[in-house]
This record gives sequence, C-alpha cells and structure tokens, in this order.
Amino acid sequence: MDTTSLENKNTELEAKQAHEILADAVDTYGDKLVLASSLGAEDQVLTHLLLKVNPKARIFVLDTGRLHPETYDVIAETEKKYGMKYEIYTPQTQDLETLVRTKGINSFYDSIENRKECCFIRKVEPLNRALSSADAWITGIRRSQAVTRANTPILEWDAGHDIAKYNPLAKWSEDDVWTFIKDEHIPYNALHDNGFPSIGCAPCTRAVEPGEDIRSGRWWWESPESKECGLHVVDGKLVRKEKQKEKEAFE
Ligand code: ADX
Ligand code: SF4
Repeated sequence: MDTTSLENKNTELEAKQAHEILADAVDTYGDKLVLASSLGAEDQVLTHLLLKVNPKARIFVLDTGRLHPETYDVIAETEKKYGMKYEIYTPQTQDLETLVRTKGINSFYDSIENRKECCFIRKVEPLNRALSSADAWITGIRRSQAVTRANTPILEWDAGHDIAKYNPLAKWSEDDVWTFIKDEHIPYNALHDNGFPSIGCAPCTRAVEPGEDIRSGRWWWESPESKECGLHVVDGKLVRKEKQKEKEAFE
C-alpha cells in the first residue's frame, strides 16, 4: 500500500466505528497485532472492544514501577473480568539501577532532560521490546486530548518502530469514552473519579480542577508542547512524509 492507498484507507476508516476499525486491524495483522494499554479510560474501552473481536488478542502494559496502586488494581480486575493475562513489560534492571543510583530516585523533577531519560528507561525502551514482535499496534490516543495530538490519523505508519499504528478512538470525545464505559460496565481506574482524567506514573500525575485541560495534571511543571514521553510521534504530518517506509511496509 503506497501513500495514496494509506490516505484512501484512512478515509474509509474515518467513516467506520471503533469496533469495525479493530476488526480491520485483526483481519489484517492477526497475532502480529498488539494493543498498548496504560489502563486509562480509552484503553479500557479498546480492551473491551478488541477482546470481543478476538478473545485471544495481545494486550501489553508498560509497568514503569511507578504506577499508582489503583492502576495495578485495574490490571488485576480486568484480567479477572475478561479471563486474560496482560503481556507486562518492565524496565531493564541494569539501566534502572544506574539511573536511580546516579541521578536519584525522583530525578525527573529536576529537568526536562532528566524526565525524558526516566521516560526512556521506564517506558520507551520497554515499548521497543513490546513492539519488536508486532507488525501493528493500537493506542487510545484521541485528537482532543492535546495540541500535540490534534492531527492524529486513524491509521498511520509508525516510522520509529517500522510498523502500522491504529488509533481507533482518534475522533472520540471524552464524553463518548465515559458514556461507553458506563453503558458497557467496563472496569476503570478509581482515580478517574477523583479528578484524574489522564493517568500516567504516580509522581508525574496529579488531579486537575473541573474544566482544566485534561492533560494539565501530567508533568504539570512542563509546558504543553513538551508533554510527550516518547511513546508517540507527535506530528502525523511528519509520519506521512516517510513515504518510502510506508511503501515498504504496506506493499
Ligand atoms: S503518554 O505518552 O502521555 O504516557 P497517554 O497516557 O496519553 O500517553 O496514553 C496514550 C496511549 O499510549 C494509551 O492509550 C496507550 O495506548 C499508550 N500507553 C501509554 N502509557 C502506556 C503504558 N504504561 N503501557 C502501555 N501503553 C501505554
Ligand atoms: Fe519516569 Fe515520570 Fe516518565 Fe514515569 S512519567 S517514566 S516516573 S519521568
């Protein structure tokens, strides 16, 4: 599939509902498809829908070691409800020990550079391992979550990982997510009821006031433009410029 075909496919997927987009992903990639779950509300919706399409779907969690206790509770509750087990990835011990021994246990508060280093060791490197056996991944990214996500396509070529990336909830609003969770009785993180619309690691996430930007509680000491941890390429246009790689991957 070349760039034009990818754009045509996106036009086709834009008109589809999330479960149809997931069915397309399962049909196309089979067991080479993985869902990345942070246990956030969007990922709980996707887990519910994906397991309906394929009860054996692969779902992975990057356990940074700094998640909230409530997040670990959702892992256990979700595994029980759906009778599945997450593929859990943890940071490389050696890298983590070196980081905390040389920079300190909470080095991420000291500079953006330190914060990105911690995110790299605890999230990005494990993500690279998680995706090394995949040809496509699914994320819960929505366009209205952040300025950095406004151009998110439903299907894109993830040039960094050399695989396809589906964002089936790209066009969903926060209300859409919560209506679905309540209607379908999907388990969710208890922190969402206590002012946490977006949840990452415990030391880097705090509650927000009603009406505040949904990601304002994430890395609250940084500006909105830098608030990405490296899991996601932030500008869809940049990705679409990688025409050669798209061609190779989709042909
Ligand atoms: S982040 O980049 O700022 O941390 P965010 O929390 O909004 O991302 O989540 C966006 C998507 O990234 C999630 O829907 C999920 O697909 C993936 N993701 C984020 N954190 C994790 C995690 N710890 N484990 C697995 N996937 C994750
Ligand atoms: Fe480290 Fe904070 Fe990034 Fe988690 S969110 S990996 S604790 S810097």
